[in-house]
Amino acid sequence: MENSNVFGVVLAGGKGTRMGNVEKPKQFMEIGNKPIIIHTIEKFVLNTEFEQVLVLSPKQWIKHTEDLIRKYIPNHDRVVVIEGGSTRNETIMNSIAYIEKQGKLNEDTVIVTHDSVRPFLTHRILEENIKYAKEYGACDTVIAATDTIVESRDHALVTDIPDRSTMYQGQTPQSFKALHLRDLYQSLSEEEKEILTDACKILVIKGEKVHLVEGEVSNIKITYPYDLRVAEALLGGK
Ligand code: CTP
Repeated sequence: MENSNVFGVVLAGGKGTRMGNVEKPKQFMEIGNKPIIIHTIEKFVLNTEFEQVLVLSPKQWIKHTEDLIRKYIPNHDRVVVIEGGSTRNETIMNSIAYIEKQGKLNEDTVIVTHDSVRPFLTHRILEENIKYAKEYGACDTVIAATDTIVESRDHALVTDIPDRSTMYQGQTPQSFKALHLRDLYQSLSEEEKEILTDACKILVIKGEKVHLVEGEVSNIKITYPYDLRVAEALLGGK
């Protein structure tokens, strides 16, 4: 869509240290004979409501990301690769700065931010994110917790076991009115910025509402080598 004011933001600025892959960050590893990041970008490109799909990659991987997009995504006019930041939230801020630089940032601009390493997101999840972010200003994709969540503040003893029926597991996308998110982020101290690894928490600690979007069990995040095998299985029973 020409001027929908809705932007896809594919977060691929990380190094994937837990994957233990030394050659390249996990988003560039292949599942089903295609890089993970490509599976993810394809889902965004299929949704015509995105004015642009911004892909944020580590500086030294920008060229590689562009090459992959050219190779695998036939209809890539709306896809732009830009540099990620030092933290996940800084990567999100770079996407907002890019939108602003193009003169496209206003009160209603919506960003749908998504982990590049969650290639199984669905059209329904994207649609609901766009709708809820427009309507409420912010939303977070979650699934109900299946395991009981146990809290241990000292990593040795149980300090709490919250009622499971009120517990959810966070997934992505997380979607926001971009200008407002940036204003809140800029009002944080450096210490707060350090602790806040989750973008939705920026709103939560300021007492603002973040609506839930129901995710999918299959919307997994590829973090460890084991997840690659699960992903292959989800793709077609290998
Ligand atoms: N991410 C990002 N910019 C950063 C850090 C992370 O865009 N500075 C992205 C990752 O590329 C990933 C997503 O955020 O798609 C989720 O983060 P995570 O799974 O923790 O990725 P990594 O930080 O790459 O992994 P690790 O913690 O194992 O190093």
